[in-house]
Order: sequence, then C-alpha cells, then structure tokens
Amino acid sequence: MPQVLATPTPAEIAGALTRRILGQEEAVREISVALSKHLAGLRVGNILMIGSSGTGKTTLMRAVEGYLASDPVLATRSAVVRIHANVLGEEAERGRPGEAVLGRLLDRAREQLGPAAPVDMLLRRAASGLVFVDEVDKIRSHVGGQANVAGIRAQEALLTLIENEAVPVNLPAWAGGGAVVVNSADILFVCAGAFEGLYDAVFDRVTIGKDRGALQPVTVVEGGKVAEKLVFRLRDWLRNEDLFDYGMSPQFLSRFDAVVLLQDLGQDELVRIFLETPESAFHQSRSYFESRGIHLAISPNAVRRIATEAGRQPRLGARALKEVFRRVIRDYEFDPDKSVTGGALLIDLPEVEAVLGKA
Ligand SMILES: Nc1ncnc2c1ncn2[C@@H]1O[C@H](COP(=O)(O)OP(=O)(O)O)[C@@H](O)[C@H]1O
Ligand SMILES: [Mg+2]
Repeated sequence: MPQVLATPTPAEIAGALTRRILGQEEAVREISVALSKHLAGLRVGNILMIGSSGTGKTTLMRAVEGYLASDPVLATRSAVVRIHANVLGEEAERGRPGEAVLGRLLDRAREQLGPAAPVDMLLRRAASGLVFVDEVDKIRSHVGGQANVAGIRAQEALLTLIENEAVPVNLPAWAGGGAVVVNSADILFVCAGAFEGLYDAVFDRVTIGKDRGALQPVTVVEGGKVAEKLVFRLRDWLRNEDLFDYGMSPQFLSRFDAVVLLQDLGQDELVRIFLETPESAFHQSRSYFESRGIHLAISPNAVRRIATEAGRQPRLGARALKEVFRRVIRDYEFDPDKSVTGGALLIDLPEVEAVLGKA
C-alpha cells in the first residue's frame, strides 16, 4: 500500500548526501533510490558496495545516518545502525550474532521512541530498520588459504536475518525477556568493503588465469606513438564467482540485488574533498587556527600539489590527503604565530614544496 506521508524523492536524498560525499554518483543514486523506497515502507533489495580504501564507503553510510538524523520526521521512519563486520564475527564466535543485530536495532528504536514505548512498537520499528555492515570483506570465509570461522559464522548469521520472515529472538531484560519471533524481511542491508586483492584476482583471471586471453590489448596513441595496452576496469569483468572465490558464500551474495562499485578518486575529486568537505584535514586545521584568531588560507597551486602527493598513495584514497597535509601544516600548528601576517596565514606552493619537494 502506498504511504500517505510524503517521502523524500531519490533526487532530494541524493542532493542531501552530496553535501558530504563527492563523486561516487552511481553509489549515491543507488542508495538514494533504495532509501526513498525504504522510507515509503516498500521492500527493497539489499546493496553491496565495493570500493578501494578511502573512496568514501563509510562516509556515504555516515551521510545517510546524518541525513536521517537531521530531520525529526525522517528520524522516526527508520531505525539505523552501523556495524563493523569484525564485531559480527566476534559475536558469532560467542553465539547469536543475528540476535545481536536485532538487539542493536531495538536499542536504537528505544532511543528514538523513548523508554515508555510498548515493546511491540519497538520490535516493529526494529524489523523495518536499516543496517549498515561496514568492512564486510572482513567476514570472508577464508584468509590466506585458512578457513576463517568467525567470518563463516558471521555470514551465516546475516543470512538468518536477511529476507527471513520468522527470526526467533530472545528479548533483552529491559524488554521483559522472553522469546519472540520477528519478521526481519523488511530490514534493508547495505554492506560495504574494500575487498583488497579482488582487483588483482580478477585481473589475473582474465589475463593469465582461467579466462586467459579474455582481456585483449587495445591500440592507443600516446604522445604521437601507437602502442598496445591492456585497459582493465574491474566493473567490466567482475562476476559473482570472483566474489565466491574471495570468500563470500553464494547464499550470502544471492541476498544482494545490487553490487555497486565505487570509483577510485582522481586529482580533481581529491582537490574538492580537501577544500569542500566539512571533515577534511584543511577544515579541521582551519578551525584550530581560527580558535587562535588566525585565518588560514591556501592557494589553488598549493592544494594541487598536496592532491598530487596524495594521489601517489592510491591505496589510501582520500585518506592520504590527511597524512600529506599534516606533514605540511604541523610546524605551523606547533607555532601558530610564526608566519602570520595581518592575522592570516597563507600556505602557497613554496610552503608546500618546502616540505614535499617539487612535483
Ligand atoms: N567520495 C568522497 N567524498 C568525500 N569525502 C571522502 C570521499 N572519499 C573519502 N573521503 C574522505 O576520506 C576519508 C576516508 O573516507 P572513508 O569514507 O572512511 O573511506 P572508505 O571507503 O575506506 O570507507 C574521510 O575523511 C572522508 O571524509
Ligand atoms: Mg570505511
């Protein structure tokens, strides 16, 4: 049945999310559509996000949490929890991790609706919640040829919750204890992981492995010269079997309607993330200087040099910006008044090159 209450459209949701997450249009659109349907009370397919470290997976999850929390009406439409998959693995070692996930949703619902809310109302809210499972690649079934028991159990535990209409649950003491059966089929799961090594594994499969020769070199013109080159993009070649081989069970994977690949960030995106996102190293440092009555400014050339340096550590993604900027700014932060003129500190290219060298 269509909901009478107005539900934000995917475009509205995406507009709000893109204040915190830059680029990654495909992932933002996918999540926005899913969330819009979920908030309307419709059943939605679960989503698996795959993207290199530092490309914004956790940021996107937090942006959704922030978006829902920012509006009191939205906040009451869905209980949201974000869980680190490793924690699920630990809980799986001790017993009933599926129940632990529902328990968290129940706690969240209680925070939202207050301790006086009846238990069945809380259960209903929990049973239509949104669960983010971060670092889901940590619950792969094997690591380096060894079985990963915690991972296997955690995948099984999630299976007991995903699309299950009758999950037996022991209620927590505050809810009076006792056993109930919960229909968790309406919970939306969004899982994300870097799946380190997946890129290389798929590349190997299509070049030297099982599907040797599948990836053919293409002719490119580079600097006026004609050359043969292998152009590999994970999204062109990734198949479910690659994820099975990685250690995600077929049953587990079959519960996801969409697999979304995040993009590696280019120089332009790194520049924008550095300058525009509220939690960037630059803004943090700026607040620090502001607290000392100093205005921190940085020139476009200086920012580009920092982004170039960060781009040299592709494994860190945007995280490298923090590490690089810290090297540039730390002496100024130690002695804030040192290079200030007229209440302002300007970081220009020479200041950056003095630390990082020339590009
Ligand atoms: N697409 C992005 N948009 C905005 N900030 C990003 C993006 N990708 C990474 N960042 C920034 O880089 C840092 C690491 O991002 P995070 O989302 O934790 O990466 P991961 O994909 O490994 O979960 C965060 O400080 C975040 O602000
Ligand atoms: Mg992360």
